[in-house]
Amino acid sequence: NTIETASFEWSAPSNIALVKYWGKKENQIPANPSISFTLNNCKTITKLEVAKKSDVSSFSFDLLFEGKPKEDFKPKIQKFFERIEKYCPFLKEYHFKIDTQNTFPHSSGIASSASGMAALAMNIMSLEKALNPAMTEEYFFAKASFLARLGSGSACRSIKGQVVVWGKHAEIDNSSDLFGVEFSDIHPSFKNFQDTILLVDKGEKQVSSTVGHDLMHNHPYSERRFAQAHENLSQMKGVLSKGNVDEFIKIVESEALTLHAMMMTSMPYFILMKPNTLEIINRLWKFRTETHIPVCFTLDAGANVHVLYPENVKEKVLQFIQDELVDYCQKGHYICDQIGDGAKQL
Ligand code: PMV
Repeated sequence: NTIETASFEWSAPSNIALVKYWGKKENQIPANPSISFTLNNCKTITKLEVAKKSDVSSFSFDLLFEGKPKEDFKPKIQKFFERIEKYCPFLKEYHFKIDTQNTFPHSSGIASSASGMAALAMNIMSLEKALNPAMTEEYFFAKASFLARLGSGSACRSIKGQVVVWGKHAEIDNSSDLFGVEFSDIHPSFKNFQDTILLVDKGEKQVSSTVGHDLMHNHPYSERRFAQAHENLSQMKGVLSKGNVDEFIKIVESEALTLHAMMMTSMPYFILMKPNTLEIINRLWKFRTETHIPVCFTLDAGANVHVLYPENVKEKVLQFIQDELVDYCQKGHYICDQIGDGAKQL
């Protein structure tokens, strides 16, 4: 097929890792496998307009973020195009107008790289599908995840499925270092799981994830950590299929603290948690001990706290957050989210 002009639009969600990806090899190959919940409300919506051009010597694109030209995102897109050109040789034949926005506030400390790269990858796959209509749906989604990974590693877990595994693992069928695969053997206990994101620090990240991953190269504990991630994913597989929420809590919280322990023990070293992060964790632990409500926390590479819990205790947990945790959030801000099922064509 030849395409002169076309327009596509996709939304893609953020995701929150349960077993964390931290450390990578060449070409965005993860040093260990990871597993995440796909989110529902925190997402990027990207519209792509393409127009065939005659000069095929370089990439050509305009970028609008929330309706306004955004120059500082351009190098990231340029680099992404360079990385994926091998797999999408048609890119230089088109001018791209990329119009993108997030459903969550820009400076919330919530990384938009996963949802942003996933939404862009979906749009590029829509163009490829238009050029090659015979493509199967399975290929479409697997390649979208493959491309998203080259944009930002964890973005490959934001394409399809409520729970996604990325990285080769002996006990997960079809798992791959190259793209995320849907993990579908999930017990009803985890259906509609909630994630309330407490915005402790909305500032720019102190350490970019690129720098963070690199610090695992000469890290004294890296080998043991990578092995532990395999062990934890193996356990998590059983926990998710059997509905063992108590074990889930142990693995998820230990993974969050281990991620931060890796940063605290790298050279140079970092502390990304803030005093309020620790206040929240301690109050959450006290609440859980007193009420036996199965609620736990996880962290990304920052100070914000993700509070995870089943839907049937939503009212009680939100009340607790209102009563005891909002004071530790910047300007009292938090975002209510829950498990979602991936990218959507609009
Ligand atoms: O996708 P990146 O390169 O931004 O790395 C993300 C790493 C963590 O969010 C800290 C963990 C994870 O698995 O998502």
